[in-house]
Amino acid sequence: MTSASASRGAILVVDDNIDNLNLLRVVLERAGYKVLPALSGEMALKAVTVTLPDLILLDVRMPGMDGYRVCDQLKADPRTRDIPVVFISANHELPDRIAAFDAGGVDYVTKPFCEEEVLVRVRAHVRLTRDRRQLEDMVSVRTAELAASESQLRELSIFLQKVREEDRAHFARELHDELGQNLTAMRIDLNALALALGDADASVRCKLNTIDQMINSTVDATRRICEDLRPGMLDDLGLEAALSSYAKRFASQFGVECDLSMDREDYGLDERLSTAIFRIVQESLTNIARHAHASHAMVSLEDRDDELLLTIADDGCGLVGGATDERKHFGILGMRERVNMLGGRISIDSAPGRGTHIEVYIPRTRGACP
Ligand SMILES: Nc1ncnc2c1ncn2[C@@H]1O[C@H](COP(=O)(O)OP(=O)(O)O)[C@@H](O)[C@H]1O
Ligand SMILES: [Mg+2]
Repeated sequence: MTSASASRGAILVVDDNIDNLNLLRVVLERAGYKVLPALSGEMALKAVTVTLPDLILLDVRMPGMDGYRVCDQLKADPRTRDIPVVFISANHELPDRIAAFDAGGVDYVTKPFCEEEVLVRVRAHVRLTRDRRQLEDMVSVRTAELAASESQLRELSIFLQKVREEDRAHFARELHDELGQNLTAMRIDLNALALALGDADASVRCKLNTIDQMINSTVDATRRICEDLRPGMLDDLGLEAALSSYAKRFASQFGVECDLSMDREDYGLDERLSTAIFRIVQESLTNIARHAHASHAMVSLEDRDDELLLTIADDGCGLVGGATDERKHFGILGMRERVNMLGGRISIDSAPGRGTHIEVYIPRTRGACP
């Protein structure tokens, strides 16, 4: 099926009366339209499969299929349903006109027709149709552009996520190696100094002790920061151990009980999935510590054959108003993005005073690599 491209438009004229047909043809062609003639409803339906007209002038009373039935069929077919149908009929009565609009017609002209009237009506509907088609084309171009930029953004997001993980791992290593080693060296030197000083002044000994304690707490802080940046356990012992250690640390650090349940000892996940799951749990538990005022948190991971179900819940105050303006808060937004990248889905169920319940479904195979 091709689209008619005459400059003023192509009109399919359907009339079983050859004189009427010819008269309409002359009037329309003189006004610059391309005319596609059809002497019956059946011929009209065949004609639209070859060329899509801009408008159909349709006689109502015809042997075989009448105009209403032709119109019904045109409207039932998605390829032709948007072509405007103008009925042209000798029936003047209101019920006839109602039936015509009911069948999907956009206009009704009575015979004997006035040339001028037919032309102004045809012109108005052709212009409307062309404007609508132009708008639809613009919308589909814009939709395609949006889809393309959305997919570029997604790729960028995947790339940034990957770079972020790499940077965090790099900083964790640097901190551990550089700072960690320097601190150890300082502690050894300090101990040597304490020995060399022997029974020195009590105030000097006290100062040395204080420095030693500060070095100890800096070592602890460095270890904690390294773990937050890139949990060594995730790389060395896997997701299961990393989650278990993180949940314990969370409970002791924030005084919120945290139950962790995993229905497998080893989920056999690659680095991409392990990192994503760990980061989602990390973000959710951090939120619980910061916002929930909860006494109990729960994390569970379930293997559901082709997908994993990760649940994080708390018995805290719940999200204020049931939802938050995520544009200003990037934690939940980041979680959504991560889940999207994995081809999964996330649901957050929460109401004031009823705690927060987050469910994340992650397919084992599909999705892009963060
Ligand atoms: N478990 C929770 N309980 C109560 N409120 C929460 C919880 N998690 C998130 N919120 C609310 O949702 C908001 C958005 O969270 P998030 O996107 O992580 O941003 P941020 O933690 O930086 O504020 C938080 O500011 C908080 O008001
Ligand atoms: Mg947060």
